[in-house]
Amino acid sequence: MTTKTLKNGFSLPEIGLGTWTMGGAMEADYSRDEEMVGAIRNAVALGYTHIDTAELYGAGHTDELIAAAIKEVDRSSLQIASKVFKTNLEYEAVINSTKASLERLKLDYIDLHYIHAPNLDIPLSETMRAFDDLVAEGLIKHIGVSNFTVELMKEAQSYSKNKIVANQVEYNLTTRDHGTFDFCTGIESEILPYCQANDILLVAYKPVDRGTVLEPNDLLDELCAKYEKTRAQIAMNWLVSQSNVVTIPKSENKGRLAENLGASGWYMDEDDVERLRLDYKVVS
Ligand SMILES: NC(=O)c1ccc[n+]([C@@H]2O[C@H](COP(=O)([O-])OP(=O)(O)OC[C@H]3O[C@@H](n4cnc5c(N)ncnc54)[C@H](OP(=O)(O)O)[C@@H]3O)[C@@H](O)[C@H]2O)c1
Repeated sequence: MTTKTLKNGFSLPEIGLGTWTMGGAMEADYSRDEEMVGAIRNAVALGYTHIDTAELYGAGHTDELIAAAIKEVDRSSLQIASKVFKTNLEYEAVINSTKASLERLKLDYIDLHYIHAPNLDIPLSETMRAFDDLVAEGLIKHIGVSNFTVELMKEAQSYSKNKIVANQVEYNLTTRDHGTFDFCTGIESEILPYCQANDILLVAYKPVDRGTVLEPNDLLDELCAKYEKTRAQIAMNWLVSQSNVVTIPKSENKGRLAENLGASGWYMDEDDVERLRLDYKVVS
């Protein structure tokens, strides 16, 4: 799998596995456990090494499914990313939330631990102190932020001894500068160039916009024919063809898991990246 590597050696594969709704959304769903564990195992067998979860997902149950799926996999071959929810950003809460995540995941450490979203009611300095202490204790290896504007990224970095290696934000062909959350805008115009200039990875979530990107589209279809790839592959290759961008599509389907991996290992021409940026239109 092709990876994107920072100067400090931290790297992520271009395509990782999203897990939102595997094991439930805001509440745990135990009804499809076997199927979901099987899906995560399929992903790892196909070559996914970066798995993205959060304490929020399935109210923690997603972590339990990941634990079951990876229990026989060499730990060092995987990068597990998780997130502390925005209501748990006080010092003690960060520590307790992270320890609870580790217990559910049955792991000794998390590779990349994010602040899931900003919470302006809790001092960011306090949150970052907790994240630094988690790094010092070896419970997390790297710090990330998610849904952070450039201003907040700078503020978070100013409080931390450790490099913030990633900002996970919504980025796909249809939602460019403005994702779902009003508090995180300027994704393409500000956050992406900032990440590129400051050696930070942009982890693009919702890369197929939960399907919107897969609607018929003249330009997308022209590029599918040119590169002999599917719409999902073109849409995600457009992301990873840009420097510092990796992505984490979620799929529980073996065929689509394999298809999504096929978005990596090649790059479209720069002209086509630019054409998609300028001319892509959603057909309603
Ligand atoms: N940090 C944050 O605030 C935040 C917010 C949202 C998401 N995330 C992370 O980002 C991950 C990805 O985002 P997402 O799950 O919201 O959206 P997504 O990956 O854009 O879309 C997932 C949906 O698209 C379908 N899909 C995936 N690949 C496909 C393909 N090749 N062809 C057709 N359909 C396909 C999946 O169905 P099947 O499973 O049936 O294939 C699923 O319904 C999440 O799972 C989560 O880990 C983070």
